Amino acid sequence: MTEYQQEQFPIPTPGRLRRELRLRKPPWWMVAGLIVVIIGTWIPLYLIYKKRNSYSTQPKIHYIQDMDLQPGFRAQQPSTLFDDGRAARAPIAGTVARGHLKQDDHYYRGYHTVRKGAAEMIEFFDSVPGRVKVDNKLLARGRERYDIFCVVCHDSNGAGSGLLHQRALTLKETKWVPPTNLLTQEIRDRPAGQIFQAIGDGVRNMPGYKTQISVEDRWAIVAYLKQLQASQPVASVEKKTKTAK
Ligand code: HEC
Repeated sequence: MTEYQQEQFPIPTPGRLRRELRLRKPPWWMVAGLIVVIIGTWIPLYLIYKKRNSYSTQPKIHYIQDMDLQPGFRAQQPSTLFDDGRAARAPIAGTVARGHLKQDDHYYRGYHTVRKGAAEMIEFFDSVPGRVKVDNKLLARGRERYDIFCVVCHDSNGAGSGLLHQRALTLKETKWVPPTNLLTQEIRDRPAGQIFQAIGDGVRNMPGYKTQISVEDRWAIVAYLKQLQASQPVASVEKKTKTAK
């Protein structure tokens, strides 16, 4: 026991505390070891920093390989296996992949070609094909698709003052072609097949929506559009939307 601990009421002056209660200093090798360890932890940091700020012509290291890397050809890649040097094989002439025959002109195209003497003419079908059942479900689907794909230009009532049109007018776009007013007698008289074809292939300045809208959905839009036209007053041709509403 130290002199300090023996006393009943020790007076802790700084001098006495330092002398009597001093904890032992760590030995030099412990300090040295600690310094080495601390500096050692900088090595990975340095390596990471260096890797992140250097360039390499080698591909990145892919740690977890899973099934990401497989021997296969990407689109347009060449191959030495075939004489023509192409990896992608062209379909054999005269063949059609299963389910891609699309013989039903009415359903897939909305028109068919007819021979009139020497000339070939296009004739649009004037109805929704029989295999498309026009019921409330289809009309609801058509409305939904119309609201997604057509409303921006043709507006929810079909008159052609959609938001995109209004914006173009605000910006005074000189080359803007206004979306057709779908409520005119002219468009009402269009055969269903022609509307279907216009949606898929586009018409003049309107883009085609074949890739975004399936065949069935395009017919649903046609059916809905006919219903929409019937619910709206006939628009006169002069009232074609040239100004914002
Ligand atoms: C990006 C704007 C835009 C969208 C979206 C759009 N249209 Fe059009 N649509 C136009 C324009 C512009 C015209 C007029 C094209 C022209 O005369 O050059 C047009 C014309 C039409 C016509 C008249 C075609 C004809 O025979 O004269 C129909 C029908 C039509 N659109 C239906 C639709 C339907 C249905 C959709 C939705 C699937 C749709 N449009 C989506 C811009 C659009």
